[in-house]
Amino acid sequence: MKEEIREGLKIPAHIAIIMDGNGRWAKKRGMPRTFGHTQGAKVVEQILEDADHMGVKYLTVYAFSTENWSRPQTEVKALMNLLRRYMKTSLAKCAKNNVRVRVIGDKSMLDKDLRESIADLERDTASNTGIGFQIAINYGGRDEIVRAVRRAAARGLLEDPEKIDESVLDDCLDTAGIPDPDLLIRTCGEQRISNFLLWQLAYSEMYFTPKAWPEFDRDELVRAIDAYNHRERRYGGLMDK
Ligand code: FPP
Repeated sequence: MKEEIREGLKIPAHIAIIMDGNGRWAKKRGMPRTFGHTQGAKVVEQILEDADHMGVKYLTVYAFSTENWSRPQTEVKALMNLLRRYMKTSLAKCAKNNVRVRVIGDKSMLDKDLRESIADLERDTASNTGIGFQIAINYGGRDEIVRAVRRAAARGLLEDPEKIDESVLDDCLDTAGIPDPDLLIRTCGEQRISNFLLWQLAYSEMYFTPKAWPEFDRDELVRAIDAYNHRERRYGGLMDK
């Protein structure tokens, strides 16, 4: 059944997604794991468009973690090539759809040509005013916090301990200026955070679906948003009765 956006449905401003299950989805079809990633990349583009149409303001996807380097080199290479292709080919689409791209994660370990393509895409979409699309590449939540502390030190913000507060660190994260996710979606059954946005997910609602990422679609996104609407967000406080 086609899922519709109910009238009055609250749309989360920021959705983060752990796109799991590409490999399993491909294996089940007798295909190499990399086929799952290629299919997954197509789904990313479609979901970005769907989320934008629904009124989502920020979408953040986990494309490659700091731990993913330990996968077979052929798979790492295929993933990097997919990302390379995305950075090179998506500008026209981003311009048309007014998408602003930011890559989060430690970019220093990426190949020079990929780093340059990322910089080009970030620069060329920086003044777009539509949905903010964050792609996490060589990203780890703990690593991001360590880099944020280093950044704060380099900016001279740690000299007076009394002046260190959450906003100081917040401003030094890769996601500086972007509101925390309201909703985290993880596909393919696992129910864990896997080092994704550790700081930012403090009060996010979580939605887990057994569907693998390559079969995730607009209907599933609507279901996740619907589930989000049934949650009571208390941020550690009490609800007024
Ligand atoms: C997890 O599935 C998925 C990844 C490690 C990579 C996700 C990357 C993409 C969908 C492509 C990104 C493209 C763009 C344009 C942002 P898995 O391989 O761990 O699956 P498994 O758990 O079944 O083995």
